[in-house]
Amino acid sequence: MMMICLILAVIFCSPVFSEDWKAHVVQNLDALVSSCIVVPCSFSHPKTGLPSSKLRGIWHLKSDHKKIIYYEDQTRVDDNFKGRTRLLGHLGQDNCTLEMVEIKNHDNGPFCFRIELVETAQPTKDMFSFVEECVSFKMLSDTPKPSLTLPEKIIQGRPCSVTCSIRHTCSTHMPKITWSRTSDEITEVHRELHLGIWEVLSTLIFIPDEKDDHNEITCTVAFYGGKTSFTTSKIYVKRAENYNHIIIPAAVGIGTAVIFGVFCILIVKKYKNRIAELQNQEGSMFNRLSRLSRRIRA
Ligand SMILES: *[C@@H]1O[C@H](CO)[C@@H](O)[C@H](O)[C@H]1NC(C)=O
Repeated sequence: MMMICLILAVIFCSPVFSEDWKAHVVQNLDALVSSCIVVPCSFSHPKTGLPSSKLRGIWHLKSDHKKIIYYEDQTRVDDNFKGRTRLLGHLGQDNCTLEMVEIKNHDNGPFCFRIELVETAQPTKDMFSFVEECVSFKMLSDTPKPSLTLPEKIIQGRPCSVTCSIRHTCSTHMPKITWSRTSDEITEVHRELHLGIWEVLSTLIFIPDEKDDHNEITCTVAFYGGKTSFTTSKIYVKRAENYNHIIIPAAVGIGTAVIFGVFCILIVKKYKNRIAELQNQEGSMFNRLSRLSRRIRA
């Protein structure tokens, strides 16, 4: 009888230890106190295509699996976490992504995910299989400052683009970036740098004028939960480089040369006519003289 039980147990529990049961959870994430965090999580199991209703996802403290931080049934959730956790992913799509809001500085974990397979035929004796993967939070008590990048040269009258970026781990409530200087052109890009680590990048394009010189530009980040931080940088506007000191003398020079050239041509033309006239006159004189000499010889 014992043998049969053992064999049955091995048969039933084998999926538990088979490699098909896998969970993928980001192991380390920065968490900003008072803000939110989204932990990407996915899993695979041999019985693919099960509806969410047959699966039960649980997040609990690694140190004590009875300290549940997420469960469908709120009453089983530890008081410290009640109402602060939410499963974003659909278990039916093998997605166990967790959101935690109002982060407290003792929420560092590690927190582990566990999946249970519910056999509805025996509702009382839940057949379960599980995998465990845990995440730890590094608590940020100081609000991170955004990084502000200005172009090397800011030239008066020429469009200039300034960027401000911030990393975060709260993809459901992205931090908001605002600028101290007004502009018609502000663009914002959100991207995932690594699994669970996001970046908001705001680009402001403005045309600097004299008033901007020696002025400050500030970019402020407002995190979900109310924390803010900012970075300030001074702007040095360069006068637009102009080439008038080269162009004007060159133009004057070329103009003078052209006028002089035309003048010379006119003079040469005029004198050519005169010379031709003179030559003609000389010619007729010579003719007359030669005729005269012939007559004399005759
Ligand atoms: C899991 O669900 C979250 C929240 O809906 C989503 O952002 C994420 O892309 C999903 N992950 C996968 C691997 O589908």
